[in-house]
Amino acid sequence: MQTNQNNFNLKSFPILTKQKMAAFQHPQKTVASQYVAHKIAEKIREKQNVNQSCVLGLATGSSPVLVYKELIRLHHEKGLSFQNVVTFNLDEYCGLQKEDENSYHYFMNHQLFNHIDIPKENIHIPAGDLKEEEVQQFCLNYESLIEEHGGLDIQVLGIGRTGHIGFNEPGSGFDSVTRRVILDELTISDAANDFGGSENVPKQAITMGVKTILSAKKIFLMAWGAKKADILEESFCRPFSHDVPASFLQAHHNVELVLDNDAAFKMQ
Ligand code: GLP
Repeated sequence: MQTNQNNFNLKSFPILTKQKMAAFQHPQKTVASQYVAHKIAEKIREKQNVNQSCVLGLATGSSPVLVYKELIRLHHEKGLSFQNVVTFNLDEYCGLQKEDENSYHYFMNHQLFNHIDIPKENIHIPAGDLKEEEVQQFCLNYESLIEEHGGLDIQVLGIGRTGHIGFNEPGSGFDSVTRRVILDELTISDAANDFGGSENVPKQAITMGVKTILSAKKIFLMAWGAKKADILEESFCRPFSHDVPASFLQAHHNVELVLDNDAAFKMQ
């Protein structure tokens, strides 16, 4: 299918906070995901033209899967190269080896990295298998590496039902950076199916902080389905609050919410 960005209907609607946030809404998450993928491809090519790296912040979960699928298609069918792409993933569960099928390393390799030509050394994902004494230094290094690469050009986000972005659970500070966090009970129960029961879900994770995410030059937050409608309303239709970390995105100058109709229905 030939997709042209001009076919995408970008629709802005006022948010009750009176802070207008650009929102793209489409009945099909496939089309909405293609929109995000094409924006990413555009940035990669723009950077290639001036011989620069394109630094992407990437997310796991079901929300970005179709974006990755479209990027893979663009690689195979339209010659999109990822040789100049550097990636930083948002988060990883603590206590999981990279090969574990529930790890975000495994997810990213299978959903994206194994299918494109990104140099392996350009891929960064928080480590889940660190020793206790290694965690703090690892987190500091992760922040420094992002900065050394000139910051994130684009950050892709999903949203958890607690309002988390990455694994920044309620109570996360506006100024938080990459660190180890304790997962919320709701997050653990949402992940229970993948792990064969909530007792098997890791209780901690390493995540980029809110400040790290907000430092990105451009952010796309994607959400599909009615189960995200309440938290989207709380995050973007009310004043921002520490209780809902995604609400901090209201303070960013360049966020696009990319939603399907079911996710967006409480926002219009
Ligand atoms: C996990 C990830 C988040 C993601 C969230 C939502 O908790 N750490 O980064 O946004 O899940 O997942 P989904 O996209 O499957 O709804």
